[in-house]
Amino acid sequence: MKWVKAFAMSNARRPGRGATWRFHGPSRHGSAAADTGPIPDVTGLRAPGPACSHRRAMTAPAPAFPHRHLLGIEGLSRPDIEALLARADDAVALSRQVEKKRTTLRGRTQINLFFEPSTRTQSSFELAGKRLGADVMNMSVASSSVKKGETLIDTAATLNAMHPDIIVVRHHAAGAVHLLARKVDCAVVNAGDGAHEHPTQALLDALTIRRNKGRIEGLRIAICGDVLHSRVARSNIILLQALGARVRVIAPSTLLPTGIDRFGVEVFTDMRKGLAGCDIVMMLRLQRERMNGSFVPSVKEYFRYFGLDAEKLALAAPDALVMHPGPMNRGVEISSDIADGAQSLIREQVEMGVAVRMAVLEALAMHLPNG
Ligand code: NCD
Repeated sequence: MKWVKAFAMSNARRPGRGATWRFHGPSRHGSAAADTGPIPDVTGLRAPGPACSHRRAMTAPAPAFPHRHLLGIEGLSRPDIEALLARADDAVALSRQVEKKRTTLRGRTQINLFFEPSTRTQSSFELAGKRLGADVMNMSVASSSVKKGETLIDTAATLNAMHPDIIVVRHHAAGAVHLLARKVDCAVVNAGDGAHEHPTQALLDALTIRRNKGRIEGLRIAICGDVLHSRVARSNIILLQALGARVRVIAPSTLLPTGIDRFGVEVFTDMRKGLAGCDIVMMLRLQRERMNGSFVPSVKEYFRYFGLDAEKLALAAPDALVMHPGPMNRGVEISSDIADGAQSLIREQVEMGVAVRMAVLEALAMHLPNG
């Protein structure tokens, strides 16, 4: 593991590297400055806790999901998460029927606003909205006025004037979705903001695990790879711990955020040691588009030490299951035989993605006018 150490040391001396996962103060809402200023810094997270209990207290009886938006896993309570997973189980059953339609969102308009490329997330939000009866419009940045210089706020105001009911947003900047949510009257769903959060991915991962293992509580779950740039890792760490899993992160030190130890996870820079006894091995993509510079000496070296292959997987529990949010770099973070093998849940994750997005859209629809 010599290169990891040497690389970490040279990396530490370079400016602009090593993003920190910080803990926030008690509130990210309500400040006038934050409302009108630039994209808020949401890259630090609070430890998971019983957030939004104030809203709960005001509503009697408590609705199954008491939030107007889904901006992150941070801020959700365990009952909030469990309510969404229960709804999603229902949506899986519906999606396996010949007749897959419900009318929960009939007459509603859903806009999918994607500032970053996406295959499975965007298509599953589209399918989810359509299965619930919504009119769904996909807006991708390639064809929008953002290319002509329009700001995020202008885009938000323009879309708001069209009276959408739900906007699903993916943006390359952490905090952009929170900012947009303050500028529109409708419900907003975060479909991934920079390296910050990707709440529906964490929910679909939890659903996949729970349906295969029957529980999440007490499971040993390893999240491996490019943790530093991963919104999937961040949302999963918060969610899986909230449901009682014992989470480990495994990465070269160059791909670990500073402050990761404060998230209550076990940290390993040796994959072989980190995988020992794990029930779930969740691989992450090496996110080269977010890297400014070189974080690994070579793809070949990375695979040798941190790529999941049969030999390393054999160190996990005998009934360990393998996950990956996609898109996969085969031969970089995962070998093809493992990705397509008997222990892989990767295809099932895609199926769960549609169900979870249906669950989220339905839950938010309850809070829409006349919902
Ligand atoms: C993830 C994302 O966009 O953050 N993918 C996804 O939503 N399916 C993970 C990734 O891009 O590596």
